[in-house]
Amino acid sequence: MPELELTISAAQAATPLIRTLHLRAPEGTSLPAFTPGAHLQVSIPGLADPRCYSLVNFDTAPGSFDAPAEYRLGVRLEDASSGGSRHMHSLAVGDRIKVTGPKNDFPLHPAEAGEGDTVLIAGGIGITPIASMATALQSAGRPWVLHYSGRSRDQLAFADELTALAGPALHLHADDDPATRLDLGALLDGLSTTQHLYVCGPKGMIDALIEGAKTRGWPACRIHFELFASAAPVAGDQAFEVELRQSGQTLTIPADKTILEVLEAAGCDPMYDCKRGECGVCTATVLEGEPDHRDYFLSDAEKASGKMIQICISRAKSPRLVLDL
Ligand code: FES
Repeated sequence: MPELELTISAAQAATPLIRTLHLRAPEGTSLPAFTPGAHLQVSIPGLADPRCYSLVNFDTAPGSFDAPAEYRLGVRLEDASSGGSRHMHSLAVGDRIKVTGPKNDFPLHPAEAGEGDTVLIAGGIGITPIASMATALQSAGRPWVLHYSGRSRDQLAFADELTALAGPALHLHADDDPATRLDLGALLDGLSTTQHLYVCGPKGMIDALIEGAKTRGWPACRIHFELFASAAPVAGDQAFEVELRQSGQTLTIPADKTILEVLEAAGCDPMYDCKRGECGVCTATVLEGEPDHRDYFLSDAEKASGKMIQICISRAKSPRLVLDL
């Protein structure tokens, strides 16, 4: 992936918590192409891992994805920011940032005959990749609808641009308004399983959408999602032991750390990419013990077999796991 140093050319508040940053090449040249759903990895001073921010595009003109004059990001100031969103909100016009990408882990499917409207569902800051998908679908003349939900109406970013783009295809939902609150079950009941679903937002929304769609018979290949959060402790999480059978090491995984984090701290070099349980890169073979699966990569049958685990996010139900590492 290309590494770029870009200049902040403009910045605005999109909502009280979401800031829009426009990025340009210092020389004013066009930027590498991207596809809807793509993100940039932004290096944050003082943080070991880059932070990922989706690219927002409302420009339906030909070439807007192929040779963009600028990139646009939407960044939500997180309550429990580890420094990434705070840093992004502190940047001023003229500041430079280092980015890697664009990379797309959340691509749109090619058009299929008889599929019906593509259904886009965004919660909060999850609107950023979804907005670019809406733009691309509109440009391509493909039918789509967008359901966009937030805690309140003033938390919905880009509402004016989305309204201009979507017209009646846009449905805005606010949790604090019973008249518009998003009811995922009712929404799914009104759709066909031939329709592709794209959802980006909080984990609870994604889990509910996946569960609701599976229950109604949607094939997994028509359920697309991207989670913005990485592994987070769940109430009741406890420490457990992991034995690495190949190296003979035994490590303790505390309640607030992942297996991957502990392996790295111990000097191991495990493979990983997303750290959200989506990509499958960190799969390890389980030789003994019972995994507590929290990923979105393994199938239900693979999870039930107990033979594999995504070490970036999943934990153990048993006091000890033995992995083939
Ligand atoms: S790193 Fe992607 S599933 Fe673990």
